[in-house]
Amino acid sequence: MSLLDLAPVIPVVVIEDVESAVPMARALVAGGLPVIEVTLRTPVAREAIARIAAEVPEANVGAGTVRTSEDIAEAVSAGARFLVSPGTTLALVEALDSSGVPYLPGAGTVSEIMALAERGVKELKFFPAEAAGGIPYLKSLQGPLPDVRFCPTGGIRAETAPGYLALANVGCVGGSWLTPADALAAGDWSRVEKLASEAAALR
Ligand code: 3PG
Repeated sequence: MSLLDLAPVIPVVVIEDVESAVPMARALVAGGLPVIEVTLRTPVAREAIARIAAEVPEANVGAGTVRTSEDIAEAVSAGARFLVSPGTTLALVEALDSSGVPYLPGAGTVSEIMALAERGVKELKFFPAEAAGGIPYLKSLQGPLPDVRFCPTGGIRAETAPGYLALANVGCVGGSWLTPADALAAGDWSRVEKLASEAAALR
C-alpha cells in the first residue's frame, strides 16, 4: 500500500529529547496516526527512530529532512521504514532509489515534479506547500499531471488540512502541528493524542 494512503496526516516531528520519542509515538498511534516522520534535524533523531522502531512496532516510523546518501544510510540502519526529503537532486533520488525502502522525494515546481515523474516516481512531497502556492497550485497540476499524487507539507495546520485533503491529487498531508514543542517538552502526551485524533478524523 502507498505511503500516501496509510493515514490522512503524517506528523512531522522534531525531537530534542530522545526520552520523548517513545511516549510521543505511542500518543500519535493511540490518536490514530501510525505514520511518523522524524526529522534528521537534531542530534538525537537517529536514536529516536531506533527507539520508536524497537519499542512501538505498530508505528510506521520514517526519517525526514533526508538530504544526502549518508542521511539515508544512517536512517535505514536506525530502522527508518520510509524516507522523506525536502527537495530532490539527481544524486539524492538515485540514493533513494537504492535505499530499499519507500520514499517521498520533495518537489516544489512543475519541472521538478516532471523530472521525478519521468523516472517513474509519482508520489511526492509537495514542499513548502503553503509558500509554494498551496491548494490553488496543486489544483492547477491536476490537468497537466493527472498521474502524480502528493503529500503537501510546510505551513499546513489543522484548519487548512481539510482543503488539501479534498484534492484528488493529495493522498495525505504532513505537518508539525500535532507535536508542538511545548507539549513535547512538558510530556503532555494527552494533548498530542488529542491533536492526533482530531487529525485522524479529517478524512
Ligand atoms: C517539514 O519539514 O516538512 C516542515 O518543517 C513541516 O512543516 P510545518 O512545520 O510548517 O508543518
